[in-house]
Amino acid sequence: MAVHSKNMFSIVLSLWSWLLLLLTLDGLVARPNHLEWDPVIRLPGEVVDDAEVDEVGTRWAVLVAGSSGYGNYRHQADVCHAYQLLIKGGVKEENIVVFMYDDIANNELNPRPGVIINHPQGPNVYVGVPKDYTGDNVTAENLYAVILGDKSKVKGGSGKVINSKSEDRIFIYYSDHGGPGVLGMPNMPYVYAMDFIDVLKKKHASGGYKKMVVYIEACESGSMFEGVMPKDLNVYVTTASNAQESSWGTYCPGVEPAPPPEYITCLGDLYSVAWMEDSESHNLKRETVKQQYKSVKERTSNYNNYALGSHVMQYGDTNITDEKLYLYQGFDPATVNLPPHNDKLESKMEVVNQRDAEILFMWEMVFSSTLTY
Ligand SMILES: *[C@@H]1O[C@H](CO)[C@@H](O)[C@H](O)[C@H]1NC(C)=O
Ligand SMILES: *[C@@H]1O[C@H](CO)[C@@H](O)[C@H](O)[C@H]1NC(C)=O
Repeated sequence: MAVHSKNMFSIVLSLWSWLLLLLTLDGLVARPNHLEWDPVIRLPGEVVDDAEVDEVGTRWAVLVAGSSGYGNYRHQADVCHAYQLLIKGGVKEENIVVFMYDDIANNELNPRPGVIINHPQGPNVYVGVPKDYTGDNVTAENLYAVILGDKSKVKGGSGKVINSKSEDRIFIYYSDHGGPGVLGMPNMPYVYAMDFIDVLKKKHASGGYKKMVVYIEACESGSMFEGVMPKDLNVYVTTASNAQESSWGTYCPGVEPAPPPEYITCLGDLYSVAWMEDSESHNLKRETVKQQYKSVKERTSNYNNYALGSHVMQYGDTNITDEKLYLYQGFDPATVNLPPHNDKLESKMEVVNQRDAEILFMWEMVFSSTLTY
């Protein structure tokens, strides 16, 4: 009975895939016309303003995967990927603090021991990721102490904190489950909206940074900031979803694009891979925070199909969106000839609701022939 319904599901998915293929082909046919219009095409020798003058101070980053368990593979994969992206951009390891439970790479269910990927054909993003706060040390208290640069309040872990100065910029990226006014953590208590915003206020009051950009992937993540996030902290926030909706897993088994067949779990989250793949395909000295917001919003909406996507929201000081992304995420010299925004978005993604992603994982566990219990 259950097997039969899985087959039905596959048939529906195949039809859906065909439809997507048709849409993609349609997009290809339309593209040449668009290219002639593209304002970013430059003549040889044209000088690009690299806005080097903006660059003072140090870049700092806090990366947080708020979950544990193999069924939540995707959150730690997102965070490892973000680490690689920042390192490629020249952000220094000593300035990046990573929170991850670290139970994925060597999990018995991981088909590639010691390896974590965040894209079906992606590289190993686990290589070199520092184990700053892992296991029991992934706590909300440690997160707050790290952001505040308060080493005395940190319990366990590497002791690395955001020891930033008034001319520095800070990037915070979090990926996990959420609920109204709350973000998950693998150890209790969770991160509550008012506590998190209090930490931002304290950091601001201490003159601990110039500007800050915060990206949050979680269900109902908008509810962390809606109506409560001040605009005068020099902090700009985007969230994967508004205050009432789910965010979405992607690269999930049985949906396109699917992970390699040996994977029984989703490899990434839609908003997260949207910002990272956007960053990797542009010159971040030329792309602004606003351009990334727009392109991530478009992709995370699943191209205005909100039934399979979510509303990316922005809060706080939106003036920051005029800044170039490299001030937060660094600059990878290999991207120097990529345009700031080439409108070449990925084709429509099949996605799985964050909450269903967990159920899908259970389901794959039951049906997977690679498992023997
Ligand atoms: C927590 O941090 C302490 C101190 O660094 C370390 O000894 C311990 O192994 C960490 N716990 C886990 C579960 O990683
Ligand atoms: C944003 O910029 C405008 C125009 O310069 C200014 O009036 C406003 O106060 C700024 N907002 C914040 C939160 O700094």
